[in-house]
Amino acid sequence: MCGIVCYVGPRDIKSVLIEGLKQLEYRGYDSAGIAVQNGNRIACYRAVGKIVELEKKIAGIEIIGESGIAHTRWATHGAPTEENAHPHRDGKENVYVIHNGIIENYHSLRRRLQQEGVHFRSETDTEVLAHLIALHYDGSLSEAVRKTMGQVEGTFGIAVIHRNEPGRIVVARRGSPLIIGLSDGSHFAASDVSAMVRYTNQVIHLQDNELAVLTKDDVSISTVQAVSVKRVVETVEWRGEDVELNGFPHFMLKEIYEQPNTIENAMRGRLEPAEGVPKLGGIMPVWDRLKDCRHLVIVACGTSFYAGCVGRYVFEKLTEIDVQVELASEFRYRKLNFPPNTFILALSQSGETADTLAAIKEAKRKGASLLGIVNVVGSSIARETDAGVYNHAGPEIGVASTKIFTSQLTILTLLALLLGRHQNLSLTDGIEAIRALQRIPEQINAIFAQANHIEAIAENYYRCSNWLFLGRKYNYPIAMEGALKLKEISYIHAEGYPAGEMKHGPIALVNPEMPTVAIVPQDDMYEKMISNIQEVKSRRGPVIAVATQGDAKIRELVDEVIEIPPTLSFLNPILTVIPCQLLAYYCAKFLNRDIDQPRNLAKSVTVE
Ligand code: F6R
Repeated sequence: MCGIVCYVGPRDIKSVLIEGLKQLEYRGYDSAGIAVQNGNRIACYRAVGKIVELEKKIAGIEIIGESGIAHTRWATHGAPTEENAHPHRDGKENVYVIHNGIIENYHSLRRRLQQEGVHFRSETDTEVLAHLIALHYDGSLSEAVRKTMGQVEGTFGIAVIHRNEPGRIVVARRGSPLIIGLSDGSHFAASDVSAMVRYTNQVIHLQDNELAVLTKDDVSISTVQAVSVKRVVETVEWRGEDVELNGFPHFMLKEIYEQPNTIENAMRGRLEPAEGVPKLGGIMPVWDRLKDCRHLVIVACGTSFYAGCVGRYVFEKLTEIDVQVELASEFRYRKLNFPPNTFILALSQSGETADTLAAIKEAKRKGASLLGIVNVVGSSIARETDAGVYNHAGPEIGVASTKIFTSQLTILTLLALLLGRHQNLSLTDGIEAIRALQRIPEQINAIFAQANHIEAIAENYYRCSNWLFLGRKYNYPIAMEGALKLKEISYIHAEGYPAGEMKHGPIALVNPEMPTVAIVPQDDMYEKMISNIQEVKSRRGPVIAVATQGDAKIRELVDEVIEIPPTLSFLNPILTVIPCQLLAYYCAKFLNRDIDQPRNLAKSVTVE
């Protein structure tokens, strides 16, 4: 959840590190710090709060050096204080280390070090690394890091500098991402390419149990057993402007508006309209087994989980496959009993979510085949799965996921369509589905044309402290997602419910102060939804309906209507979620919330 950025080279180190940290701030933002080495002097600055606090602290201070490490923290061990902020150092201030992940045996290591007289300054698990590396140091930082890696358990991505080794950074990983960036006469390392994409698109993904020594002219990679490794340099498709606001006030709004493009990208080169069948090159390695799949288990967390819940209905509509959707954080603790030819499908924007990663590893141990739908190329989940499909949606920087959700829905539909067409789904149904998918981007633009109307609705209701979201079938997960979006960025309490369940409890909450957002497109659930809306109205609850264009009946019944263009019922969620995203965004805006970095949250959840 923390973010790491390192640089060695001739550029202005202060600005490279601070700008890099700002790109990583979405990963965690309770404190930050940098350590810059100039000859055998290391200057270290840390501050509690967001990167801007660190920036203020070092404003006006000349920081020069040819190598440096920087970190943004999301607290796990110890409160967000300056002493707990990274970089951490040993007693003699020779070694400075930053760390992403959790050292699981830090208690016993700390106790042992304390018995040997080591004094600890912080409450963090990370500090043991600084002391261990210092104790092992015998003229080679990489050897000291290697020995330390042999002693620690848990997950880490680390970067280390030593006073005696100017111009050199040692990075290492086990379980937490670390990417090395190559540019002329300089090298970067970061937990995410967005921190360096302004300078380079040439990267190497460090693998687990590897360490790399970076100097401005060279990168050498080896395993923890000191076996030298050659890794291919990959070109990333993300561009500098992808990590800029480009005139939008927030990344979340920018990413909401990117959806027509990101959906196009999810489909680009993947449709054969005349055959009514998609092509998904990434799953071809397992196609022989996948085409006979009869049991699919989708595992994911948060918004990705809700995408999976929509996926289940779509698979049920288009295929003969029996689908189960599981929260990754629960799944791995269940008794797993897979019928033959079960596929596990992991959905993850970051590809690093610890719960999802652990769930698929457990499923693999039980013999299941693994697929992934992942946005971040080369991420841990992408590497752990046997095959998969990338979103190609560019970086998602707003902490609240938006564009990846609709991209996931698009790819899930393509996958279901592909499998369905090899089962019972007819050519006509396939062609109709592809045509409808192709219209989705322009239909989303039609929803954007109502942005002012949605903003006005938000202005009317943002003071209400409790909201209910209702939907059925395909749109039940949209009710859940709508409620999640609202609560995470506006801090308004919201519940997403399958509308049929309302009478079994939540109806007790309905009153004139609690708005209900009813997701009610004209599909086979329409009449049932109308009855539920009537139940809310008869208890004087205000209702905001997300309904199909031209639905006159709904207008008479509810207080506000946001229209979506007509599409096939199983594609409605890609459209109905857009007004929910915008409603959440505008409520948060009226409440003056920190929309891109809501309190307590982090984008990439790498702890279980
Ligand atoms: C909510 C949100 C989270 C993520 C969840 C899974 O807006 O962003 O609920 O969806 O943490 O993350 P990924 O998809 O990276 O596995």
